[in-house]
Amino acid sequence: MKFFIISILFIVILNIYCQQVEDIVQCNDIDINHEKLEQMTIKEQEQFVKSILDEYDTNITSLAYITSLAEFQTHLYLNDSSKRRTTDKYYEIYRSCLKTIAIVARRFQSLINNNQTSIRWLLLRTQAIGDAGENNTVIKLEMQKLRSRMKEIYHRKFIWNNTQLGIDEVQEVLGKLESPDDLLSLWNAAYEVAIPMRDYYSTLIAIQNQQAKQNRLTDKTDLTTNIEERRIVEQLWQELKPLHRLLHAYVRQQMSKLYPELIQLDQPIPIHLTKDLFGSMMTYLVKDILPFPYLKGIDLGPAMKQENFTEEKIFHYADRFFVSLNLTQVPNSFWNLSIFKKIPNRHMACHPTAFDMYKYDDVRIRMCTSLTSRDFYIVHHEMGHIQHYLQYKSLPFWFRRSPHGAFSEAIGDAIALATMSPTHLKRIGLLENYTLTR
Ligand SMILES: *[C@@H]1O[C@H](CO)[C@@H](O)[C@H](O)[C@H]1NC(C)=O
Ligand SMILES: *[C@@H]1O[C@H](CO)[C@@H](O)[C@H](O)[C@H]1NC(C)=O
Ligand SMILES: *[C@@H]1O[C@H](CO)[C@@H](O)[C@H](O)[C@H]1NC(C)=O
Ligand SMILES: *[C@@H]1O[C@H](CO)[C@@H](O)[C@H](O)[C@H]1NC(C)=O
Ligand SMILES: *[C@@H]1O[C@H](CO)[C@@H](O)[C@H](O)[C@H]1NC(C)=O
Ligand SMILES: *[C@@H]1O[C@H](CO)[C@@H](O)[C@H](O)[C@H]1NC(C)=O
Ligand SMILES: *[C@@H]1O[C@H](CO)[C@@H](O)[C@H](O)[C@H]1NC(C)=O
Ligand SMILES: *[C@@H]1O[C@H](CO)[C@@H](O)[C@H](O)[C@H]1NC(C)=O
Ligand SMILES: *[C@@H]1O[C@H](CO)[C@@H](O)[C@H](O)[C@H]1NC(C)=O
Repeated sequence: MKFFIISILFIVILNIYCQQVEDIVQCNDIDINHEKLEQMTIKEQEQFVKSILDEYDTNITSLAYITSLAEFQTHLYLNDSSKRRTTDKYYEIYRSCLKTIAIVARRFQSLINNNQTSIRWLLLRTQAIGDAGENNTVIKLEMQKLRSRMKEIYHRKFIWNNTQLGIDEVQEVLGKLESPDDLLSLWNAAYEVAIPMRDYYSTLIAIQNQQAKQNRLTDKTDLTTNIEERRIVEQLWQELKPLHRLLHAYVRQQMSKLYPELIQLDQPIPIHLTKDLFGSMMTYLVKDILPFPYLKGIDLGPAMKQENFTEEKIFHYADRFFVSLNLTQVPNSFWNLSIFKKIPNRHMACHPTAFDMYKYDDVRIRMCTSLTSRDFYIVHHEMGHIQHYLQYKSLPFWFRRSPHGAFSEAIGDAIALATMSPTHLKRIGLLENYTLTR
């Protein structure tokens, strides 16, 4: 108990602004009297389940808030293992609550099977608890160990060209390199760090597959939702695929002019040549592969510097754009509690991340922003996650996560694409002297 009090105090001191203090709540198993339940009408049963889930909702939300606060702090002090231990402890309580709720919800089997009731979807969602359902303590500890080892390896520093680099610093260096040999050498050096992760990763996946099989055998309830979900994703992918193939072929063809020796027109694009650590974004290629050579590539960096932009200001632009689409403005606390740039001399996580703290409208971003076109885009992407959190904040806890990762990833991207258009950039004063005609 003392442990909790100390760490809560610590969090409060660190964030004097407007952080709320939370007590650790209980998640108690609730016994269901099935005889009584069967005498109720469906409507009454729904009411009954709703009242139970409402109470759990309050408690799990509270635990989610405490856990997220701790997680946020952990990211800011990567070298502080006591913060990680505190977070792990909260996660354990949070997960065990998820599990208790899943077990209680499963007792309403007749409602879960009844496709006429609306509470069914909520009951089904309570079952999606992943490995929180694991009963075997040995396996649970093993998975925790594997995860934290992989995290540690991921953030290990390495030396390249006599410079010490961490994963979060690689991208900026990579983006500035020109020679394919340098690109390859840095890319290889960054990926070499991760090699010891392979064994841990395959062990973790094996355990998770085992769990998935177990869950399937004991619990067929989520099968219907999964099949439907897969069908939708597959259909969307088939619709998109022709465009994706054309775009890929076009980029490859343009790049083959730059690197005739290195790119073959019927082979994949070597990943290091994309100048993106994960080969997923084309921002550094834009200036070389745009279709109209008489158009200059758009580089917002100099304009933002000329306008004396701060990192935070990009987020204000993004927020205003969302509001202009009649979407929701971020709450004031967002500006106080987010971290918009790298804190000097601190070993902290930098990968752009949007946090839903699940309570008090507390949403935040942690990002080591730089004043570049790429980060202008990424800020809008992250603000898309925040928008998603704000839109679903009044829903029951179990609906407040994306049903599918791709959906929440896409919100900010759709909006960022619009903001990167010359018309818009001109309107907000970041693009001068740019003309679409020869
Ligand atoms: C919610 O937490 C409170 C405070 O710890 C506890 O009294 C209550 O029994 C909990 N509710 C459930 C359903 O576990
Ligand atoms: C973590 O790093 C900071 C600054 O880099 C240092 O002041 C602090 O003592 C370190 N903490 C631990 C637990 O190593
Ligand atoms: C609902 O369940 C009934 C009985 O199990 C079944 O006949 C019907 O097709 C189901 N409807 C939907 C929309 O799934
Ligand atoms: C864990 O135990 C609970 C309650 O005994 C049971 O309902 C559940 O199916 C078990 N989960 C797994 C993954 O074995
Ligand atoms: C390696 O470091 C030196 C000294 O900092 C620098 O001049 C050179 O450009 C670097 N090489 C590459 C490929 O970045
Ligand atoms: C940016 O700051 C410089 C130096 O402080 C100042 O001279 C300039 O007018 C500022 N530019 C804008 C657009 O505010
Ligand atoms: C803006 O959103 C609100 C509520 O979300 C809605 O009532 C209103 O009609 C919307 N306005 C426009 C112009 O779409
Ligand atoms: C945010 O911080 C400012 C001062 O920096 C303060 O005036 C304001 O009340 C804070 N807002 C919230 C919501 O905490
Ligand atoms: C745009 O053109 C005007 C007039 O030619 C010039 O003064 C200004 O510096 C240019 N701005 C940029 C960002 O190049």
